[in-house]
Amino acid sequence: MTIQAVVFDAYGTLYDIQSVATVTEEAFPGYGEIITQIWRIKQLEYTWFRSLMRRYEDFSVITGDSLAYTIGLLGLTHDAATFERIMDKYLHLDLYPDVRATLERLKGRKLAILSNGSSGMLNTLVHNTGLDRILDATISVDEQKIFKPSPDTYALIEARLGVRPAEVLFVSSNPWDACGAKAFGLNVAWIERVTPEAMALACVKSDVVPPLTMFKALRTQMDELGVKPDYRIHALSELPDLIARS
Ligand code: LAC
Repeated sequence: MTIQAVVFDAYGTLYDIQSVATVTEEAFPGYGEIITQIWRIKQLEYTWFRSLMRRYEDFSVITGDSLAYTIGLLGLTHDAATFERIMDKYLHLDLYPDVRATLERLKGRKLAILSNGSSGMLNTLVHNTGLDRILDATISVDEQKIFKPSPDTYALIEARLGVRPAEVLFVSSNPWDACGAKAFGLNVAWIERVTPEAMALACVKSDVVPPLTMFKALRTQMDELGVKPDYRIHALSELPDLIARS
């Protein structure tokens, strides 16, 4: 396998979506964690619901709708400025600590993002975090008006980069995204950030499952979707060696 392009999922893979917890907690003291987890769970659900309903709205709308749902279900009220302050964090998410060094080591191949994010959100985020100086392309599913894991979204990689699926390594921490990319025909590395052992330990004998544990149970363990990624890694920093070996 000759890898000509390495393409990354954005939210949860390069960018730590848990980093919104600082602003959700500041806006609603005591509710930061539950807002953070329900918001992300609902945000992804809405991408799938709307794709099936064929009622696409871009990811900024979906992110706002899922935040409004979350604040509402908790019986909290908010003003427009508070809402905007929380939403704004999506334009300034924290990068995982190993992102910059890993991307630098992968230079020489085409490097890109393929994300559910809208072009506006992604371009601003990539610019704000300096990745625009390293990446060759930031590809939004918005061009196809459907969300991952639709095959139409993964097809954007060849269309934009001119690299065949067999020569692309797609990297995601989202299990359903890794499965979707594999089903489409890309080479896939899945970042297993929570091991099954750690997951089982977190759930053992606990009457009260904290929101973060529930999030991890729903969104961090490999899904049963009939396909499996090619590689399982635990951090982005493993990628350069993996590519050199393959
Ligand atoms: C993305 C979401 C799915 O960046 O994490 O596409």
